[in-house]
Amino acid sequence: GAAEHSPAVIVGTGYGAAVTALRLGAAGIPTVMLEMGQLWNTPAEDGNIFPDMLNPDRRAMWFKDRTEAPLASFLWLDLVNRDIDRYAGVLDRVNYGDMSVYVGRGVGGGSLVNGAMAVTPKRSYFEQILPRVDADEMYGRYFPLANSMLGTNHIDPEWFETSRAYQFARVSRKAAHEAGFQTAFVPSVYDFDYMRREEEQLVPRSALASEVIYGNNHGKSSLDKSYLAAALGTGNVTIETLTEVRDIAQQQDGTYSLSVRRIDEHGTVLGVRQLTAKYLFLGGGSLGSTELLVRARDTGKLPDLGEEIGRGWGTNGNVMLGRANHSWDPVGELESGMPALGIDNWDDPVSPVFAEIAPVPAGIETFASLYLAITRNPERGTFRYDPGADRAVLQWSESQGQPSIDAAKRVFDRINEVNGTSYRYDLFGDTRAFESRFTYHPLGGLVLGEATDLYGRVNGYRNLYVTDGSLIPGSTGVNPFVTITALAERNIDRVLAEDIRAA
Ligand code: FDA
Repeated sequence: GAAEHSPAVIVGTGYGAAVTALRLGAAGIPTVMLEMGQLWNTPAEDGNIFPDMLNPDRRAMWFKDRTEAPLASFLWLDLVNRDIDRYAGVLDRVNYGDMSVYVGRGVGGGSLVNGAMAVTPKRSYFEQILPRVDADEMYGRYFPLANSMLGTNHIDPEWFETSRAYQFARVSRKAAHEAGFQTAFVPSVYDFDYMRREEEQLVPRSALASEVIYGNNHGKSSLDKSYLAAALGTGNVTIETLTEVRDIAQQQDGTYSLSVRRIDEHGTVLGVRQLTAKYLFLGGGSLGSTELLVRARDTGKLPDLGEEIGRGWGTNGNVMLGRANHSWDPVGELESGMPALGIDNWDDPVSPVFAEIAPVPAGIETFASLYLAITRNPERGTFRYDPGADRAVLQWSESQGQPSIDAAKRVFDRINEVNGTSYRYDLFGDTRAFESRFTYHPLGGLVLGEATDLYGRVNGYRNLYVTDGSLIPGSTGVNPFVTITALAERNIDRVLAEDIRAA
């Protein structure tokens, strides 16, 4: 039969997609969102929607036989990961040889699994990475708008000093200060008042019950509770789940046709159907949106796409490391799953580093301090289409992670030297101290002003837009979701005014 038509279709339900849906819906435009993951709103038999980090089950990961947590080992023992049933779980780890990329799967995308750190980039750095975007407008209007819509809040510094759950962060802060480094509180979309009540045993625990990376049952303002709830509230937005967009083509009349595959939560394909849209927005994230356009170009479905598609991908300079503390400096048995403090060495011209002090919510004293460092790594990867696998494959080699390691090493060598401490060599499956072969922060692939115009309109095609982290050229210097959200707000403002309302 005839394909179903919708004026606007959005691929994905992450940050860029959610912003776009709200603004289209509020403007009265009927909009369909297509999300390959599940809607996470129904408790399982254990009464929880999500499993915690210590007892992961099938809900934890997207069609894996075993969990693949970033900390592969502890004391070199494979204690962290568990065998699980293959299922449409919430966290995916997409493995491309030397680089593995963590992404969220479900209504809300990465907001379901992430650490909730809501950081606005330093203005001077933002001006470097996106020099043709008006920074006055971003810092005057779109960053504040994004933060207020997302529910960004700040920890009470007095409570931080007394909370048992942040002893691990205070221990790391002391070591950083001893070595002359500055620390800064990190804003969050996890409700710190809720966390305080968790500590007082007044409400069910989430951050204080080792919940992070496989979802939070309480406390976090994920997108399903912020932008997406507002989008649905307009009455013009619908969300289809377990629905993956496989192919995009343009029809004679300029509208887009999408080939869409539905699965059940066990992965059984229920069917493939066609949908058409006048306006098509790609919000599948850096991996998802880039793959769709690389595939469309290289299979001849959108033949006018250029060489910039699939370029300019980066890890946001991510590198993880652990330090071993002295036995007289315990980090405590209770660690909040939500980070609240970072070492801010970004203004260092040689090795800029913004290192979040990350928890190891193991429920035992670990004597370990963990860090996820964001560095300024100039290396970039490229996606190429593999026709056999019908997949876009990232070209990235392990050596491209070295600049991230070098920068982090400069900072943490000094911290260890001054404090008489050492690295942990038991955390990443072998004996390496630094792990730069995975990222939480995939950025780029469809870079603003290169693959698209300065508002995310794909070069060569009308009414086709990119709205997510693939627009950002590989780095934003801080945790990226506030940047992605603010940029999406800016772009949809312009697109609504010029392309849609005017039409
Ligand atoms: P995002 O990845 O959020 O959403 C894309 C959605 O599209 C997904 O739901 C996906 O399933 C769907 N999709 C993809 N392809 C599709 C297709 N073909 N058809 C249908 N659906 C498709 N950032 C931060 O600022 N602070 C933090 O604390 C953290 N912490 C953190 C921890 C962990 C464990 C992870 C994995 C990530 C973070 N991040 C983070 C990163 C942050 O979550 C990430 O940058 C954003 O979610 C990216 O937003 P996007 O809008 O680009 O896509």
